Amino acid sequence: MTNKFVNLTNSTDGLSAELPLYLGTEGPEVLDISTLYRDMGVFTYDPGFMATASCKSSITYIDGNKGILRYRGYPIEQLAENSNYLEVSYLLLYGELPTSIQFDIFKGNICYHTMVKETLKSFFGGFHHDAHPMGIMVGVVGSLSAFYHDSLDIHDPRHREISAHRLIAKMPTIAAASYKHSIGEPFIYPRNDLDYCENFLRMMFATPCEDYQLDPVAVKAVNLLFILHADHEQNASTSTVRLAGSSQANPFACIASGIASLWGPFHGGANEAVLDMLNEIGDVSQIDKYIAKAKDKDDPFRLMGFGHRVYKNFDPRATIIREMCHEVLKTVSAEDNPLFELALELEQVALNDEYFVERKLYPNVDFYSGIIYRALKIPNNMLTVMFAIARTVGWVAHWLEMMADPKQRIGRPRQIYTGAGERDYRSMDKR
Ligand code: CMC
Repeated sequence: MTNKFVNLTNSTDGLSAELPLYLGTEGPEVLDISTLYRDMGVFTYDPGFMATASCKSSITYIDGNKGILRYRGYPIEQLAENSNYLEVSYLLLYGELPTSIQFDIFKGNICYHTMVKETLKSFFGGFHHDAHPMGIMVGVVGSLSAFYHDSLDIHDPRHREISAHRLIAKMPTIAAASYKHSIGEPFIYPRNDLDYCENFLRMMFATPCEDYQLDPVAVKAVNLLFILHADHEQNASTSTVRLAGSSQANPFACIASGIASLWGPFHGGANEAVLDMLNEIGDVSQIDKYIAKAKDKDDPFRLMGFGHRVYKNFDPRATIIREMCHEVLKTVSAEDNPLFELALELEQVALNDEYFVERKLYPNVDFYSGIIYRALKIPNNMLTVMFAIARTVGWVAHWLEMMADPKQRIGRPRQIYTGAGERDYRSMDKR
């Protein structure tokens, strides 16, 4: 993988190390520092992983400067235009687009696992009626490990695959049940003749008294958003899943940890936070005030849905989703349009403001995703759950990739210790 090295010498003690430089299929060269402590007795310091690759991966490629996102080599724009979420899931998991036979088998496997155990349903009753659905998701998905002892041998590739299918299949069922619990309606069972997104929408909106009429625009929009959210290489939640998995924890526990990490407003929680922000701004006349707040270092307010650690020119997902926003809003009641108009105006003001331009802060995928989901009557507190359903396949693909790697080791970062030096214990009466 390399014939290039970087030599480092510490001028104070003369210790040196020869560090290999790796080059992936694409992307910048990567310096392998794993022998640095052994050879030079020093750690590296990189809080927030600004310049650290934590693994090798062949799933997703991002070039943040050029606004490129590819799953297994396929540009996101092509997948968004031509594919569907289950086909993209197959691609992420197995590395290639499926033939029609492979796709039918995969779809059958996912459909086979869409139900949850009847006893699991009683877990929901333990949650308060106004529990945040993400809180329910963390708990219920983690609890799945208690139901599937038959396939929890993480060293068995077939067991890993069954767990992967179970997770992808059951997420919409659990997500819809979280919503039904919050509004006091009975859970709706999955229907395996429907496709993945159709099935989810029906479980959300049908009742035992009245079936849900699937709206093709809604199905298309959810399918697109799920594709765009399906994977994003080593983001916070995926890195959390990998770190949890590196201790050989079971996959359900690992994905529950990923859901917890996703929930934060700087990550997947941003779509809910964007809507809260737009509602708070309320009117275009208030935009300047909020832009000023976002620029004020003494004010914790940030423009939610703006900025990204990796994308520094544009987020290709945001470009695709912006178009979809127009399409969806044309077909729904006018009630949600003002929010979109406010968002478009805010976007323009920010894009022309020196503060945002200098820092390369552009709208990200979640600036628009919440607006689309709202227009489809998905409530605010379900927006991050939607992200979690879609991202499950990405988490699972990374977990599978890691578990199949014979060189995989437990993740264990080091630290710069800044606490007290050694001191002697004093009994309580002397403190
Ligand atoms: N509003 C105002 N200022 C911002 C914003 C923002 N949304 N984002 C970054 N900045 C400023 C930040 O204050 C800093 O300024 P300075 O250099 O003067 O100190 C500079 O821009 C760099 O920011 P950073 O926090 O060091 O950048 P980061 O790479 O650590 O953070 C981020 C990336 C996404 C957490 C951040 O841009 C942010 O908080 N955005 C809002 C939340 C959001 O929309 N998150 C969704 C990300 S996309 C969905 C996903 O993949 O999860």
